[in-house]
Amino acid sequence: MTKYIVEGGRPLFGEIHISGAKNAAVAIIPAALMVNGPCRIENMPRISDVSLLLGILQDLGARVRYVNPHTVEIDSSSLRNGRVPYESARRCRASYYMLGALLGRFGAADVALPGGCDFGSTRPIDQHLKGFRALGAQVDTQSGFVMAEAAGGRLKGANIFLDKSSVGATINIMLSAAMAEGMTVIENAAKEPHIVDVANFLNSMGANIMGAGTDVIKVRGVSILRGGSYSIIPDQIEAGTYMAAVAACGGEVKLCNIIPKHMDCISAKLCEMGVEIHEVDDSLLVSRIGPLVRANIKTMPYPGFPTDMQPQIAAALCLAQGTSIITDSVWNTRFRYTDEFKRMGAQIQVDGNLAIIEGVERLTGAQLEACDLRAGAAMLIAALAAHGISQITNVQYIERGYEDVIGKIRGVGGRIRAVEITEEEELAVGSAG
Ligand code: EPZ
Repeated sequence: MTKYIVEGGRPLFGEIHISGAKNAAVAIIPAALMVNGPCRIENMPRISDVSLLLGILQDLGARVRYVNPHTVEIDSSSLRNGRVPYESARRCRASYYMLGALLGRFGAADVALPGGCDFGSTRPIDQHLKGFRALGAQVDTQSGFVMAEAAGGRLKGANIFLDKSSVGATINIMLSAAMAEGMTVIENAAKEPHIVDVANFLNSMGANIMGAGTDVIKVRGVSILRGGSYSIIPDQIEAGTYMAAVAACGGEVKLCNIIPKHMDCISAKLCEMGVEIHEVDDSLLVSRIGPLVRANIKTMPYPGFPTDMQPQIAAALCLAQGTSIITDSVWNTRFRYTDEFKRMGAQIQVDGNLAIIEGVERLTGAQLEACDLRAGAAMLIAALAAHGISQITNVQYIERGYEDVIGKIRGVGGRIRAVEITEEEELAVGSAG
């Protein structure tokens, strides 16, 4: 186990190269299970969620080979069927995509219910299961496993109206429908950039998916997917996280390898807060010289402000002039991190899915414990902006989704290092949870 030591209070200057999108990668890897032939996936982020999912694929019998540090070749030709055990599934929420992928390809799947980031609330998958059932699968949940089997061995296309525009359900149903018989129509589908990316990946392997990125997705099932090459889109949330860091710390950073359009929902808010953003081809120049000003934020499904940026923007708002109100309308208990901010001197009140932040002049360094991926990223931002030294434990959460976070922060002048924590410290962290 490691912890990060951060010496804050200095502006950030330089360039950061944004990695491939985590939430696209964690769906595209399971999608590669459906492909009968080698697929080459470029711009793969080097993060622990990716390693975990590639490990599950190997356990199922797929051949996985890194061609270079960000290009992986997956060949699932020799896979026959699959059971994903609890030990593998519990460590990564996206393992639930194995359900749609295995069910689509083999007409049967047996996957342990996932773990992943816990926002203090349960994370239901009823819409995923509703979709599988509509496609003709018999679905049972027993002893922590979801067992799904298509009547007659192959799913049949259907019309599915999602009660909630769930990212996971949209992707899972799209995966299972890609090899079903006939046409599937998903209505009230989620529209996040990584949904389009998964559809593009499947289409490049021979699927026939139309409308991804709108709220109606049409999938005409095909009987086989063949190998090919694909490059994952840049990570909208990783880029947004570094933008929030510049907002909080000040300075000027160029973010390279991004799709500026995907950043609009985040850029608009940061501009309102006094951050300057200039688009140059596939990069954004982000700077903050003057004071930060308050803003109200309400998280919404894409193209609204993403819930996955809520904690990071809150870190910046702690240092903004005036009172900001954040409403998380996607996850109703995603404010656990605010207790850590308060120990740094932040003024925050939480009431249900609302946080009211009274901006303060400065935060001071403290001992912090990451409680989920984006909360961990937000603590990193607060620590970089704070005066004095902070220590962040439970950084394995951060490493689930941010490639080379230490190298990237150091590259723009942030003072951060990772150190091994002692056995006593490890026990203290464990018992605190
Ligand atoms: C995805 O989670 C992301 N994870 C999350 O990112 C992200 O916070 C979330 O979408 C929202 O954008 C991955 O892509 C792996 P949802 P997912 O299904 O698919 C309710 C990160 O930090 N719901 O869109 O699990 C649910 O309770 C992670 O990178 C149902 O009621 O989210 C929530 O309120 C954390 N029934 C809302 O819908 C269902 O069957 C949105 O959930 C499914 C969801």
